[in-house]
Amino acid sequence: MSTVETAKNSQYFIDLEDKHGAHNYHPLPVVLDRGEGIFVWDVEGKKYYDFLSAYSAVNQGHSHPKIVEALVNQAKKLALTSRAFYNSNLGEYEKKIKNLFGFDKVLPMNSGAEAVETAVKLARKWSYEVKGIAENAAKIIVCENNFHGRTTTIVSFSNDPDANQNYGPFTPGFIKIPYNDIAALEKVLTNEAQDIAAFLVEPIQGEAGVYVPDEGFLKQASDLCKKHNVLFIADEVQTGIARTGKLIACHHENVQPDILILGKALSGGMYPVSAVLANDSVMNVIKPGQHGSTFGGNPIACAVAVAALDVVADEKLSEKAEQLGKLFRSEIEKLIEKSDLITKVRGKGLLNAILINDTPDSSTAWNLCLKLKENGLLAKPTHGNIIRLAPPLVITEEQLLDCVKIIEKTILDFKK
Ligand SMILES: Cc1ncc(COP(=O)(O)O)c(C=O)c1O
Repeated sequence: MSTVETAKNSQYFIDLEDKHGAHNYHPLPVVLDRGEGIFVWDVEGKKYYDFLSAYSAVNQGHSHPKIVEALVNQAKKLALTSRAFYNSNLGEYEKKIKNLFGFDKVLPMNSGAEAVETAVKLARKWSYEVKGIAENAAKIIVCENNFHGRTTTIVSFSNDPDANQNYGPFTPGFIKIPYNDIAALEKVLTNEAQDIAAFLVEPIQGEAGVYVPDEGFLKQASDLCKKHNVLFIADEVQTGIARTGKLIACHHENVQPDILILGKALSGGMYPVSAVLANDSVMNVIKPGQHGSTFGGNPIACAVAVAALDVVADEKLSEKAEQLGKLFRSEIEKLIEKSDLITKVRGKGLLNAILINDTPDSSTAWNLCLKLKENGLLAKPTHGNIIRLAPPLVITEEQLLDCVKIIEKTILDFKK
């Protein structure tokens, strides 16, 4: 190996990013070079269990061969046409996804934030043209501690100062209520229903720290929305595609949202693919030229999403997530009895978090993640003293129990 090559160790790549890239992230100091299934390898060749799954985008595992094959074959054939023309992948994909999730139509986009923006625009347009709200008076109810992405409109209704400080002026038209608070939702709907277009909610608040609402919350919220002619919008960008043990988390309560937002694992993390699904009574308010994206619905995205959805069904990933999630939480409960460093485990399916027994501004969770990394498992704190644990859903029971051992050893050995 030449001296130039030997110099390209982890520190080299960390310094490179530090010097040349905007500092809008604070990554754990590990430089990943390769991934396969539930494993990733750093540039020195060390192997890790991935317990973040690119924020639940890699539910099907890294570089799933069927998804790679779809990507490569389609890239060789036709990558991008724009929507100025029809393409021979889009219709097949649209038919598959709308049937799978039970809607009349899909609107294809790329990132999760773009899909949320699309849902906001769709709900507003529906509220003026179908519900009859007066011009520019429409409001959308959102929840405190939400995370829906990073655009100007989306950060307008965030209450995380990191997300919105000095990004104003903000988009008006949002009412914030506490998460998991049916009484608060009912109050706003009762008092202001005539001006409310929609209720936008994450079925589990992932970024906020994997907050699972009380059983029945989603069903009651959806029923209230129906009663008041308000659209129920589920942002399942993180919770969707089998992550929580069902195809979408709303299915745990037999709720069919009026608008469903998907992203991340819709492509198995292979390509930015997002989608907004709705029935004709809502979706048909958008006419040609009124919304779009150069890349949305491109042939590669469609081929990749079809393969990614096939993998979810073929490998029974919802069922696996449901079963292994229960096992994981019960194993961590046993660990909680042995250690006072963690106080709680919560989640659904394989979207879980542990709460660290320290203040949210302490560095304990971060330091624990550094130790987990040393011991061969990658996870990252979300909001201070909470660590999200979300492996690819292709993990086996044996591997999951091995990961529990790593977590147990790290926690029991840890010194603050
Ligand atoms: C619930 C939810 N909505 C939207 C987004 C934004 O997705 P993206 O980062 O692809 O824009 C995220 C990302 O974490 C998310 O968790």
